[in-house]
Amino acid sequence: MADDVIRFSEPDVGEDEVAAAGRALLSGWITTGEECLALEAELAEFLGVDHVVAVSSCTAALEIAVAHLDLPRGSRIGIPTWTFVSTAMAAVHRGLVPVLLDVEADSMNLCPESLSAALHSSEGLDAVIAVHFAGIAVSETIHHLCSSAGVPLIEDAAHALGSTDFRGLVGGSGTAGCCYSFYATKNLTSAEGGAIATDDERLADFARSFRLHGLSKDAWARYRPDARTLDYDVVGDGLKANLPDVLAAVARVQLRRFNQMQTRRREIVTQYRRLLDNCPVRFVPAELNPNSADHLFVVILPHGADRAAIQADLKNRGIGTSVHFRPLHTFEWFATQGFGPGPSGLPVAGRLAERALSLPLHPRLSDSDVTRVCDALSTAIDSEHAA
Ligand SMILES: Cc1ncc(COP(=O)(O)O)c(C=O)c1O
Repeated sequence: MADDVIRFSEPDVGEDEVAAAGRALLSGWITTGEECLALEAELAEFLGVDHVVAVSSCTAALEIAVAHLDLPRGSRIGIPTWTFVSTAMAAVHRGLVPVLLDVEADSMNLCPESLSAALHSSEGLDAVIAVHFAGIAVSETIHHLCSSAGVPLIEDAAHALGSTDFRGLVGGSGTAGCCYSFYATKNLTSAEGGAIATDDERLADFARSFRLHGLSKDAWARYRPDARTLDYDVVGDGLKANLPDVLAAVARVQLRRFNQMQTRRREIVTQYRRLLDNCPVRFVPAELNPNSADHLFVVILPHGADRAAIQADLKNRGIGTSVHFRPLHTFEWFATQGFGPGPSGLPVAGRLAERALSLPLHPRLSDSDVTRVCDALSTAIDSEHAA
């Protein structure tokens, strides 16, 4: 094993984040309060949306968006099979049935034909969650298909803070909520955390209550120095999914540094594409997409390549990799629950399930780290082919 390890992901946090967390810890109020309110206002301004509600994770944000739809149990929700399990779990927790949809080979984003077939099948769909995979927003066609079928579209933007599409910055405009993650590996991190962005005031009010047990007033509203009343009501069911001020303080610093971190990500992605030009892999997407948030750098390995062997080889050279994603339909539990594919099947996801590999991508990578990853990947593929 090499001494100098290149981690797949590394949080780009420094003294400013430490100082902000420290200040919040010593401020006398460490859970959801003024830092969280400030983060929500700053994120809303950054995204150009009316409302942002900070929560404990993207999973919670998704569950809130699904709960707000208030669909009967057993309703069918279209979800790309190429996603993290939490996209589906958020719907399952609200009693919905995921219908697994296929993705486009180039972007691994929700495939319009697969969505259209499910929307127009005899059973139809009652809602859709689209995932902006790896930082690239789903196509405008996905929005049109949902709106012309009258089906609400929730955005899983765990990878898409800073992505742009036909609306400008991805931020929930015209959809049933846009859900972000501030998990440790994300472009902006507070270790754990998330947010829901929307222009819909009713969804924002619902989210503020649902993130805290369905209470009419959160703790900050009741206990802050100028609070008028300690009383509260329970206006619905809900989660315990508020974001503490200590984490919100870290996220605020990250937001201030966001553009600078994104610039470094783009440099790294550009370098990967240049250095791997002669390597027998395909990039996701094939061409650099200027609208991407560059959350992941995913390559498709040559047909027949042993991905596990290549990952092991890279690991022995001190290089961490990951897989985004093992498609949902390959997990045993989904099959046992009967959460199967939509009417057009999952040919692309099925074909590429064993071939996608995510290379290290975070702002702390140096140019020489990227060169080392590229050299190691080329060597690993060559030796795997020769074996
Ligand atoms: C596409 C996608 N959706 C949702 C999530 C869940 O995010 P969180 O860990 O903040 O709940 C992730 C996390 O990795 C993800 O990749």
